[in-house]
Amino acid sequence: MTKNKQTLVAWLRDAHAMERASVDTLDRLADRLSRYPDLAARFREHWRETLGQVERIERCLKKLGSDTSTFKDLASRFLGIAQAYAVAVAPDEAVKDCLTAYTWRHFEIAAYVSLGAAALMLEEPDVARMCNEHLEQERAMAAWLEQQIPEVTLEFLRP
Ligand SMILES: [Fe+2]
Repeated sequence: MTKNKQTLVAWLRDAHAMERASVDTLDRLADRLSRYPDLAARFREHWRETLGQVERIERCLKKLGSDTSTFKDLASRFLGIAQAYAVAVAPDEAVKDCLTAYTWRHFEIAAYVSLGAAALMLEEPDVARMCNEHLEQERAMAAWLEQQIPEVTLEFLRP
């Protein structure tokens, strides 16, 4: 395997860890936001999409001949980042949760833009296609969140 292909595999493993951390975070947020059924439902939907993302990344890694046995260690690395963003339960938790989720979607968007460019250059069209699919899902979720943030904020401020 060339050095660049090894880098692509390493980045795919990072993306896998990132999505695994997302699965946990989105699951928690969907539960926690039960007082906001619309938010909870969309978070749950993206949680389901994220499970699919994890699976697709695993398929790409297997195709590239990568060992998938040490995923756990990597996942904890990103979970640390996710937890740094996750805030303690506060009165304005729904506002903060939306901001956190919006930030995290953009972290994922950045990761897939980079990974997709690398995959194209290294002639791995399946990986590039997967990145585009994931980008579409992340951008849709980010756009939806951006629409919700003002309303959630105003709702918190209403007497
Ligand atoms: Fe994702």
